[in-house]
Amino acid sequence: MPTSGVKPNAHRGTIKYANGTILNIDRHDGAQVVMRIECPPLATHARAGSFVHLQCDDELAMRRPMSVMRASPRDGWFDMLFKVHGHGTARLANRQVGDVVSVLGPIGRPFRAKDYRPRPLLIGGGVGIPPMIFLAESMRSLRPQVEPLVLMGSEVPFPFRARPSQIMLPGLPADTIAAMPLLDDWGIASRLASTQGYAGCFDGLVTELARQIVENSPERGDFEIFACGPTPMLRAVQSLALALGIPAQLSLEEFMACAVGGCAGCTVRVNTPAGPAMKRVCVDGPVFEAEQIVFPG
Ligand SMILES: Cc1cc2nc3c(=O)[nH]c(=O)nc-3n(C[C@H](O)[C@H](O)[C@H](O)COP(=O)(O)OP(=O)(O)OC[C@H]3O[C@@H](n4cnc5c(N)ncnc54)[C@H](O)[C@@H]3O)c2cc1C
Ligand code: FES
Repeated sequence: MPTSGVKPNAHRGTIKYANGTILNIDRHDGAQVVMRIECPPLATHARAGSFVHLQCDDELAMRRPMSVMRASPRDGWFDMLFKVHGHGTARLANRQVGDVVSVLGPIGRPFRAKDYRPRPLLIGGGVGIPPMIFLAESMRSLRPQVEPLVLMGSEVPFPFRARPSQIMLPGLPADTIAAMPLLDDWGIASRLASTQGYAGCFDGLVTELARQIVENSPERGDFEIFACGPTPMLRAVQSLALALGIPAQLSLEEFMACAVGGCAGCTVRVNTPAGPAMKRVCVDGPVFEAEQIVFPG
């Protein structure tokens, strides 16, 4: 038993320490980078919602946490999408194809694969988009009968060339038609939101789009929400889910040092059946039930 008295996390047994090789780097507007890393142990065990803790370069000892956006167990790679934020991500963005990166992962409790309701609503904001791509792809392969709708919000240009969706959806403004091509090609509906006036995007916050979709639907009980993004967006999703009585899982971000449950530097307050408790985002999360989360203030 750990000395902290915290219940052990079975999923921590899958965390690997490995070297990965950068296979591909796509640089996009808004200092956004999509990076593909060959790392078979990680690609095999990653789940939608799990993340890696990686060394941005050889001189920066502190690792940085990044969500896994896609993983191919067959080909042994995983993808990340990150935005340059400070010196760590700037160094990571400067790495070159062929460079070796030290990776710790996959870490964290992923989104729970329950018997999904028929209409999962996946909401990603900014650098919270990657786990939603992973989740949509997983749902499609594990539960082909469900029809996920992925909503993405961004205030900088999206890190892909949006195109009009081939998948028509009732209850949406006609001019909200821009979609992510990758998801459209997989037959998964998606829509984009921004306040920047991008063509085909919903003009407003992604949570406002989500509210319209649910409120305009006669079958609210069909929805289930999964979300990742900045804290103000997650607060809004929590309010929406509670107000409309929809189950929701939210993926949180916190500053992380060890990322394996040892330092308690990433704790957040949650309500549990036994009362309020402090939980570590790295290994007790990052995904929590929305109704449990107590946002600061
Ligand atoms: C579970 C998880 C998943 C994430 N997934 C993504 C993703 O997919 N794409 C993406 O762009 N970003 C993601 N982030 C945020 C990303 O980790 C931070 O942007 C990054 O750590 C900032 O490092 P920096 O050195 O560039 O910034 P700086 O501000 O220079 O960092 C300074 C210090 O603060 C710490 N720090 C700053 N922001 C964070 C943060 N949010 N979390 C932890 N430590 C932080 C750094 O470790 C560093 O020690 C994720 C964060 C978490 C916790
Ligand atoms: S970062 Fe150390 S316990 Fe979570």
